[in-house]
Amino acid sequence: MSEARSKEGEIQIRIENLRKVYVTDESQTVAIEDFTLDIKRGELISIVGPSGCGKTTLLRMIAGLLEPTSGTITIDGRPCSDPGPDRGLVFQDFALFPWRTVRKNVEFGMEVTGVPKEERRLRAEEYLRLVGLEKFMDARIHELSGGMKQRVGIARALVNDPEVILMDEPFGALDAQTRNIMQAELTKILEKSDKTIIFITHSVDEAVFLSDRIVVLSKRPAEIKEVIDIPWPRPRDRASPEFTALRKHILDELEKENVLNN
Ligand SMILES: Nc1ncnc2c1ncn2[C@@H]1O[C@H](COP(=O)(O)OP(=O)(O)OP(=O)(O)O)[C@@H](O)[C@H]1O
Ligand SMILES: [Mg+2]
Repeated sequence: MSEARSKEGEIQIRIENLRKVYVTDESQTVAIEDFTLDIKRGELISIVGPSGCGKTTLLRMIAGLLEPTSGTITIDGRPCSDPGPDRGLVFQDFALFPWRTVRKNVEFGMEVTGVPKEERRLRAEEYLRLVGLEKFMDARIHELSGGMKQRVGIARALVNDPEVILMDEPFGALDAQTRNIMQAELTKILEKSDKTIIFITHSVDEAVFLSDRIVVLSKRPAEIKEVIDIPWPRPRDRASPEFTALRKHILDELEKENVLNN
C-alpha cells in the first residue's frame, strides 16, 4: 500500500460556506453558493458540472488567485488567500512560455524562488523524465505536440513539490488517444507521490477513470449535488458493468442540470 493510500482520511483542505459573487457595473453573478467540502490528503478529487456553473471560479479561489465573497478555504489550517508554493496549477491552455525551452519552462518557478542553478537543472530533469520528456528537454515549446505541452505543464507544476495540484480541464484540448495516455501517466504519477489533486473535467468518463471521489455540481450557482466515492483499484476497466453504470448515473444527473433543458 502506497504512502498516499495510508494517509487517506486525513483532512487537508477545508472549504466552508463558500460564496462568490462577481459584481460588474451592469450585473451581479452568483457563481458559487453555500459550498462546503473537505478534501483528504493524497486523494484525487474530480469536479464535474455544467459549463459556466462555477468550477474555474472555485479552483481560482483555492489557488488564492481570487477572493471569496464570503466563506473560507484552508490548507492544513492555513488560509489560502494568496497563491503559494504549496499549490501547483495546470491550466487547460498550458500557459507555457513559447520562447523558452522545455527545460527553462520547468525551471521558471525555481528561478523566481532563487533555487541555485545546478539544483534547478537536476530537478527539472528529474520531473521531465517522470513525464517522459527526457529527449525533449532542449526543444522549444512550439516544436511540441499538444500532449507534450501538457506534460511540460504537469512537470512544471510538480517540480516545485506542491502538496496540492489544481488542474483545470488539463486534457480538454487533447485528442482521445493522447488523452488516454495522459490519464494513464497521471495515474502513474499518483502512485509515485502523495499529492492531493483537484481535477476539473467535462469528461465523466475521465472522472470515473481517475478519481477517488467525484463531486457533481449543479448549474450556476454551483452547489454540490452529490459526492461519489470510488474505491476501485487502478487502472480501471472502462468496459466493466460498474464503470458504465456509474458513468451513466453521473451523466443522468448532469443532464438534469443542463441549462438548455430547464
Ligand atoms: N471575471 C468575471 N467577471 C464576471 N463574471 C465572471 C467572471 N468569471 C466568471 N464569471 C461568471 O461566473 C460563472 C462561472 O464561471 P466559471 O468560469 O467559474 O465556470 P466554469 O464552471 O469553469 O465553466 P466552464 O465549464 O465553461 O469552464 C459564469 O456565469 C461566468 O460568466
Ligand atoms: Mg472553467
